[in-house]
Amino acid sequence: MNGRDPISATKHLHFSSFRAHITALSSPMAEPAPANDQTTLQNPPKDPPIPPLSKSAQKKLLKQQRLETKKAERKAAIKEHKQRELQRRRREWAEKMSSLPEEEQSKLLEGRRLAREERMAQRAKERGLKIERLARARELGQKIVVDLEFSDHMTGSEIHSLAQQIMYCYAVNGRTTSPAHLWLLGCKGEIGTQLQRVPGFDKWMIEKDDKSYIEVLQDQTENLVYLTADAETVLDELDPKSIYIIGGLVDRNRWKGITMKKANEQGIQTARLPIGSFLKMSSSQVLTVNQVFEILIKYLETKDWKTSFFQVIPSRKRSDAEVEEDSENEEQEDGHDQRKRICVEESSHDNKESIPA
Ligand SMILES: C[S@@+](CC[C@H](N)C(=O)[O-])C[C@H]1O[C@@H](n2cnc3c(N)ncnc32)[C@H](O)[C@@H]1O
Repeated sequence: MNGRDPISATKHLHFSSFRAHITALSSPMAEPAPANDQTTLQNPPKDPPIPPLSKSAQKKLLKQQRLETKKAERKAAIKEHKQRELQRRRREWAEKMSSLPEEEQSKLLEGRRLAREERMAQRAKERGLKIERLARARELGQKIVVDLEFSDHMTGSEIHSLAQQIMYCYAVNGRTTSPAHLWLLGCKGEIGTQLQRVPGFDKWMIEKDDKSYIEVLQDQTENLVYLTADAETVLDELDPKSIYIIGGLVDRNRWKGITMKKANEQGIQTARLPIGSFLKMSSSQVLTVNQVFEILIKYLETKDWKTSFFQVIPSRKRSDAEVEEDSENEEQEDGHDQRKRICVEESSHDNKESIPA
């Protein structure tokens, strides 16, 4: 790490990725990086000389720091509140028990035991149903691949975030009524190691392979569709025959255009989510792996992009203005007139801020 101590190195990485993020924000997402842009794609500036921050960048940095401090404070307050509540409930229980005759105490204990048994039976039933749904998804579910071949392009903490995002995808898939058939391909290297550490990972009801999707699905390349915010084609609906690939990257778009370039080189179709048809984003349209996965899952459930976007994309990423003017007339192609929709719904998913893009 250039001779830096680990803490300042981490800070520096954080800082430079923030800088990269700001740069990415100021460049239009509709323009993919040129295919021959070797600087951006193959050799991103890991340790660029740092010119002084502009006023707006300083403001953004301060805002981010304030948000992180608030988040940590909120987390600590919730933890403390939970502990206090637990102690209060234990105290109340002990007081109640000591105030009762022995016979009443036994009845109360018995009631508690039965309630616990019921809860456990309910949980076991839910687990059984979940296993059934996931088993069916393996036969018939929409295939969604997470491409895990980007370990070399991420820092340790980004790989850690990616592993968390994948855990989140698996949890969401287990809860939904229409789960997808999830594939983790290229599952090796540091991301493979981190996932192996997740309790129960070996029992996950998914497909996983250390080989790349291009090897594993070599007889179905015509069905592969790489999802990337840089694609020209806009996803209209999900085709059950298609296999959708999500780039397993946490990079704050430092590697802008990398998945588009990969798919183009492999001759694979690409598509982007129809975000611009339904809402205006306050920042870029590049979403995290788990957000994209969850949007697809919601769409499978509802067949409604708007609902899916509003339920998954945090309100902080959405502008409260009208839907973006889209020069490509996606709305006309898919028969919707979404231009004047206003984003008013609040998302319940803002608490996913802990999972960085
Ligand atoms: C954090 S993004 C990675 C961005 C990365 N620089 C790239 O070039 O793909 C994670 C993945 O989510 C998917 N993704 C994110 N936003 C998307 C969008 N608006 N449309 C389609 N896919 C998207 C892509 O597969 C992307 O690789």
